[in-house]
This record gives sequence, C-alpha cells and structure tokens, in this order.
Amino acid sequence: MLKKRLVSPPAEFHDPSTFSNPSMYFTRHISLELDINPFLKLIRGIVTLEVEILQVEQDPYLVLDIRGLEISKVQDPRTGKGYSYQIENGKLGSALKISLAGMSLHEQTVHVRVSYNTQGEGGSHPVGGACGWLSPEQTAGGKLPYLFTQSQSIHARSIFPCQDTPSVKAPFMATISVPVEFRAVMSALLVEERRKQVRNDGSSYNLFIFEQNIPVPSYLISLVVGELESQELSERCRVWTEPAMVEAACFEFGQTEQFVKAVESLCGAYVWSRCDILCLPPSFPYGAMENPCITFVTPTLLAGDRSLVSVIILEIVHCWSGNLVTCSNWQDFWLNEGISLYLARKVTAKVRHKDSRIKGTLESLFGLETYLGRVSLKQALESLGKNHPYTRLVPDLSDGADPDDAFGACSYEKGFNLLLKLETILGEMRILRFLRNYFERFQFQSVSTSNFVAYFSEYFRTNLSKPEFDSVGRIVFKGFNWDDWLFSTGDPPEYPQVDLSLVHEAQTLAQRCIEKEAKELSASEFEGWDSSQLIVFLDALLSQDCSQDLVKRLDMLLRLNRGPKGRNAEVRFLWLRLALKAHYEPAVENAVEFVTIQGRMKYIRQIYKDLQTVFPKGSLAVNTFTKNRKRYHNIAAKLLAKDLKLE
Ligand code: BES
Repeated sequence: MLKKRLVSPPAEFHDPSTFSNPSMYFTRHISLELDINPFLKLIRGIVTLEVEILQVEQDPYLVLDIRGLEISKVQDPRTGKGYSYQIENGKLGSALKISLAGMSLHEQTVHVRVSYNTQGEGGSHPVGGACGWLSPEQTAGGKLPYLFTQSQSIHARSIFPCQDTPSVKAPFMATISVPVEFRAVMSALLVEERRKQVRNDGSSYNLFIFEQNIPVPSYLISLVVGELESQELSERCRVWTEPAMVEAACFEFGQTEQFVKAVESLCGAYVWSRCDILCLPPSFPYGAMENPCITFVTPTLLAGDRSLVSVIILEIVHCWSGNLVTCSNWQDFWLNEGISLYLARKVTAKVRHKDSRIKGTLESLFGLETYLGRVSLKQALESLGKNHPYTRLVPDLSDGADPDDAFGACSYEKGFNLLLKLETILGEMRILRFLRNYFERFQFQSVSTSNFVAYFSEYFRTNLSKPEFDSVGRIVFKGFNWDDWLFSTGDPPEYPQVDLSLVHEAQTLAQRCIEKEAKELSASEFEGWDSSQLIVFLDALLSQDCSQDLVKRLDMLLRLNRGPKGRNAEVRFLWLRLALKAHYEPAVENAVEFVTIQGRMKYIRQIYKDLQTVFPKGSLAVNTFTKNRKRYHNIAAKLLAKDLKLE
C-alpha cells in the first residue's frame, strides 16, 4: 500500500535561483513525454503539470523556469484550450509566464501542458544545460551515441519547464521513446517497456515508462539513453553500464547492498525500492550524483580494488539526506552535503576497519578522511580567499548568482565540521539519534537551515538536562555560536580534534623521504596503507619543493606513473600534480592522457591549471583543451574555457 506522501508547500518561500513562486502555486504531479533522438541530439517534449493553487490572485500567472527550450504550445490538457503566455529572460534562464486569466476562482488545481523542443544544453545561455550528448567515439562501445543528464543544481529547466527549486517536490511519471538501438533508464522505477513500436510514419522506436511515486525535487529527475546492460548485485541493487564495463563495475560496486544495510542501520528504512548504480562514460563531469533509485557515477571510480567506494557510500546516504529530506534552496545546500558527508565518513571508516588489507583503528581511519577533507577545504579557502562570501557555510545567492559557482568544499567540509563539533559537545550517539529522528520528522519535505536549527533546538530541549537558549530560541552551548558556524567566512570557528595517527605516519614518511631524497625508502613501508594514506603522503610532498630526482626515485619505488597504483584516480591525480610541479618529464604525457580519457571536473580543471603553470609560455594546456573540448560535458567545457582565460 502506498502511503500518501504529501509535501507541505513552503509557508515563506525564498529561493533566489528560481522564477517560480511555489507559495502561490505548487506542483503536485509531473508527467513527461520525451521523444529523444541521440543521433540528432534532440528532445521533443511534452510536460503536463498538475498544480495546486494555494493563493488566488487578481491577475493569475503560473511561472515556470525554462532555459534553451523552444516552446510551441501551452494548453489545458483536459479541454485542449490554449493558454496565453510570455517569456522573460533572466540571468539563470527564462521565466515562462502562463496566464491563468479566466480560470474559475473555485478551481483548486490547474493542469498545464507545454509542448517544446530542445537540445537540453541551455541554448546560447551561459549557464549551460543538463544534457551531455556523447558521440559514439566518446563511449566505451564506440558504435552508438549516448545521452546523460545532470540536473543539479538548476539544470532541470533546460530539459522541461518546471518549478525548478528544491522546495517543490512532486511524484512524476515519464514516457520515454528512443530509437530501437537504445535503452532508457531513469531516476524512477521502470513500470513498462515496449520494444520496436511503430509510428504512423513507419519509423520504429522503443518505449520505456517510468514512475517515481515518492515526491522528488526537479534536480533529481535524470535520465540516460544509450547502449546499456545491467547485472544484478542483490534483490534491490543492480549495476548499469555500457556492455564493455559491466564486469569491472560489478566488481567495484559489488558491496552496494552491504552499504545500504549499513546506512539503514543509522538512518532508518530505505524507501526507494531500488538502489542501482549507473556507471557513466568518462565525460560525466562529477564524481557521482545521487539520483533516486539509481546513483550515477563516474568510471574514474573503477580503481580495480574497491578503494574509491566511499563515494558510493556518500551517495547512498543522500537517499536520506538530500533525497528524502531536501534542502529548501541552494543556499542551504550544506544540509544535503554536510550531513551526508558526516554520516558517510562514519560508515566508510567502519567499512575500511573491517577490511583486513587495511591497518588502523576505527578512529584513525575516520581521522584520515577528516584530514583529507580539511586539505580540500584549505585549498578552497586559499583559492577563493578567506573573505570571499562563498566561503560561508550558508552563502548568499540573492544577487542571482549561479549556485554551481558557489558550491565547493565549504558546504561539504564546514557542514561536516559543524556536526563534528556538535558531536564533541553532545556525544556521537546523541547526534546519530538526532539525525535519524530528523529524517523521520522531515521525510518527503524540504527544509531550510533555520528549520534545521529550530528542530535541533526543539529536539534537545527534551533530551538534555538543563538546556539553554538564546533570544531567538536556539539552543546554545559554551564555546559554540550558531551564527559563526553558519555565516562567517573563511575557516570554520574550530577544527574539532580527531585521531591523526595515520596522517602523521604518512607525513613522517614524506618528511623522511624529502630529507633523505628517498634513498632509504623501501616499498614495504607502504604496506597496509589505505589509498587515502598514500594520498596524504603525496599531498605532504606536494606542499614542499621536491626535486626531479626525488620524484623520479619515488616513481621507480612505487611505480606511480604508469603502475597499478595509478588505477586509483585520486592517487593518479595527486601523483600528476606532484610530478608536474617537479617538471618530471614522463608525467607530462600521462597528464595529457588523464585529461583526455575522462572529464571529471575535479580532476581536469586542476590538471589543466597545473599544465598551464608548469608551461606558462608553451600552449600545451590550451592546445590539449582545444583538441579535447568536444569530449567534455558542456558545463565542464565552459568552466575550463574560463579557467584557461579563453573567454
Ligand atoms: N550531489 C553531489 C554532486 C553535485 C553537487 C552535482 C553540486 C551538482 C552540483 C554529489 O553528492 C557529490 O558530492 N559528488 C562528489 C563526490 C563526493 C564523494 C564528494 C563529486 O561529484 O565529486
């Protein structure tokens, strides 16, 4: 039996990244009919929205977000009557304003159907769009084109008109038709599949019908069209990928069921029925994306030894933090990412601790990941500048900033450290119990930072013996100030202590390595190391000046340049940074290859910058980018062009 999961519309709505107004109109159901042609890179779409009217206006307009959509018709699906509409352009896309004049004042729901065409790349708009269209050469199979979408943060509007804000969550249904060579998968459950259907004009297609009964925000509506195969991992987990990668992906993500169970034990029952993993072609610009029922991941996770599975754990935690309880706008993004990261690091440390190949206590393995997070935060703060407004945990996007520009290590790591700080005050058990309770309380809803703080205060009002509160009702603790944690720029108010013994071990070895020019080092000293420990070691070297000789000796010892350790993309990335900095010749070709074979932004943006720094006069970075530009997702290509000052 399906429980009714009614989302509460926001009482006070504030989301600077949308044109829509969900406190007046609230989407209750979305129905998509998409005819997708990957050969032509074209989507012909019809979206039907069922919208609840919450407030009646004099001159009523339903405003939807769009970007790069060619609208052909807006009508009432029940009568076929057209609605008049206008389009107003803005910074983050356009507002599709649909006039509801003439609608009876007693109507509680309005039905709107919009027909349109799009390439899904945002047209000429600088923010780009959700669609990554790949030519056959960019796929593993090499025969057929491929499409994947990435809608977080505000790219759903480039695939269909919608109230593109995480405050609006609705169930959806989708009917996807594709040429007969293809399969479609979506962030929903497949309910029907009809192969080789024939249209009136004689052309044939495959039809896939999906349903997502749990209300989701627009940014979680995603799809892939390509040559896809799958293999079962457990009753609810399956791996999807191109045929050539099925075996490798099955091995790498083979523990998924075990991870879901581990997260369930912390967060409560898993409600999404399926927990599949889809391993994308290499141009997927992110590490992973928590699409409901099916997490999308980069093939750079295929290390061959499951050493990068912490990413999978993070995405599974998102099934609660983000997908079940969603941030209400992109300023509150930390609620999705910071909370997920905190829980994921707990689970990851446990998984590593159980792995007999890895040495270290539970606390030291947790400390290791925490330390690496702090390194990434430090880098972000250095590159932005500590006074930059985007270094706040809750950035201010009210000037119409593109949320994707504001996201970075700060939302993740400052959020993580906030929870860790609360843990040092209240104890781990209490924080974990609180979070489980928070998921239960706010499931299917969207929450703001102030909702979070208010609920936290309310929860501990009854759970602590003598709680104290500030003038606005927030619970207070000695040495902890909400405003500093939430709104100050730069470093978080504190970096709570963690066990850094594994970090120190790696740093000490790095120091010895520098002092002795790596001459007394033996490979056995790295035995039992988790790949994260090797990364700390490389990072420690990167922060100093290493001679070319030293880098060469390390390469001989650990076979970092082309050896098996480099199959772990994080290790390869750090190694390349170190080797490029030392002008170690064999690494140059390796670096060019690394930015050619995959398009994960985290790696390519940095390596291109490094190439440009190392060869300031030569045009290696620019030439390589020019050659590769078409391989990348449109958003990655736009950011790289900016980084390399080609715009
Ligand atoms: N939800 C994010 C990915 C994302 C963030 C997409 C912002 C678009 C805008 C996902 O959970 C994530 O954080 N992925 C990381 C990997 C993770 C292990 C830090 C990534 O893609 O690198």
